[in-house]
Amino acid sequence: MAADQAGITFVKRHALDVRITHWIVALCFILLALSGLAFFFPPFFFLTALFGGGETARILHPWIGLVLALGYLYLFLRFVGACLWHSDDSRWISRLGQVMSGHDENLPEVGKFNAGQKLYFWAMALLILVLLASGVITWNEYFAHATSIPAQRIAVLAHSIAAALAILGFIVHIHMVTWEPGTLRAMVNGTVSGGWGWKHHRKWLREVVSAGRAKPGTNAPPAE
Ligand code: HEM
Repeated sequence: MAADQAGITFVKRHALDVRITHWIVALCFILLALSGLAFFFPPFFFLTALFGGGETARILHPWIGLVLALGYLYLFLRFVGACLWHSDDSRWISRLGQVMSGHDENLPEVGKFNAGQKLYFWAMALLILVLLASGVITWNEYFAHATSIPAQRIAVLAHSIAAALAILGFIVHIHMVTWEPGTLRAMVNGTVSGGWGWKHHRKWLREVVSAGRAKPGTNAPPAE
């Protein structure tokens, strides 16, 4: 823990490697969504200008997808331990109304990630896997000879459905980040205020403190 000039105590939440990877994944996701929308809906074709035209957008899209998949694999390995599902998560999510209305006195204390964050983590893992597999099947420049036309048709459908769900999930993810003020700095500075930790992730804060990784008056401790 470290106290700033205003007397607020900050606790380390995400390490630098996680933050850099997360923002690479986020940038790739936005580029993929923009180019994907341009391919899917003719009125959005003008977006391909961002990539230097339709042809270059079509060439770049699968490569950006590969970078996203590798980046997410790294995030997956770093987060999977903290995103395993426990019985408290089922209790927490079944009382989501209380969470949303702020009457959370009777809810289980939350660890590093809440049940909603865990669901997002697992949903994105599954959707990125589908996007990767279906994307490779339709990557005709390299794999046309290895796939049949019916397989490509199914892959295009699966790719479009998974992309639409991932974009919906992404919108919810952004909404939740802005809904909990103080969350964005977890992925920017890597720290959160002690008050934020106490309010949203009390079990995690207790663990950080009891493991001795939060030392008042020193620089922020290592994440996780
Ligand atoms: C501009 C877009 C984005 C913003 C502003 C954003 C913001 C954040 C923030 C602040 C956190 C930390 C939450 C915490 O510590 O409690 C986080 C976590 C995370 N982000 Fe993002 N993110 C963005 C895009 C993405 C994308 C595109 C993906 C995946 C494809 C993603 C995957 C994750 C995952 C898996 C976590 C950890 C679990 C969770 O909090 O749900 N993020 N994000």
